[in-house]
Amino acid sequence: MIKISPSILACDFANLQSEIKKVEDAGVEYLHIDVMDGIFVPNITLGPCVVKAIRKYSSLFFDVHLMITDPIRYIDDFAKAGADLITVHVESTFDVSAAIDRIKVNGKKVGLSIKPNTKPEILRPYLDRADLILVMTVEPGFGGQSFIDATVDNIKACAAMIKESGREIELEVDGGVSPKNAHVVKNAGANVIVAGSAVFGSSDIPKTVKELKA
Ligand code: DX5
Ligand code: ZN
Repeated sequence: MIKISPSILACDFANLQSEIKKVEDAGVEYLHIDVMDGIFVPNITLGPCVVKAIRKYSSLFFDVHLMITDPIRYIDDFAKAGADLITVHVESTFDVSAAIDRIKVNGKKVGLSIKPNTKPEILRPYLDRADLILVMTVEPGFGGQSFIDATVDNIKACAAMIKESGREIELEVDGGVSPKNAHVVKNAGANVIVAGSAVFGSSDIPKTVKELKA
C-alpha cells in the first residue's frame, strides 16, 4: 500500500494547526516536515520549536526531513520535539554512521536521503541500519518544482538494493509528485509519496490523497 506524506512546506503557515487537521482527516499516514538551514540548501524553513508545537495537535507519524549541514547537531532536539523518523542527507555530513547512531540512541526511525545527482550506491553500507530511503526527485530547497525524470533510475536502483538487503526498508520519493505522475514513482518501487503543492494546493484534498494512493 502507498503511504502519503504531505509536505507542510506548501501549507498556509499562518494556519498550521487547521492545515494539518485537513490532511489528517483526508487519511494520510505521515506528515512531512522540511527543515532547511540556508546553507545545505538556499532556503530557511523551521526548527524544533515548530515541531514541538504541532506535536500537541497531531497523532500523525512525523517524517522529519533534515536539509541541514552537520545534522547530528540537531538530531536530539528534533527527537525531543516529537519526530518519529529523522532523515538526513548523505551529502550533508562527513559521518553518516554517527548521525544514524544518534537517531537510534533517541529511539527514532532512521531515514537516509540522496539528492538527484548522488549515486544510490553511496547508501549501500548503511542499509542494514536504515528504516527508510528518501530519493529526492527535485533539487532540495523549494516546493513546487518540476519532477526530474532522470531520478526514476535512482528510485529503481534503491528499490533493487533494498530488495537485495532483504530488510523492510521504506522507499520514499520527494519533489514534484502529483496524481499525474504518481504511477511512475510507484512503478519504480516507491511506497511513500511526499507531496506538498499537489496536496495543499488542492481544492479537494481527500480526493487528491485518494488519487495519489491509487
Ligand atoms: C524540497 C522538499 C520537498 C518539497 C515537496 O526540498 O524536500 O518536501 O516540499 O514539495 P512539492 O511536492 O511541491 O514538490
Ligand atoms: Zn522534503
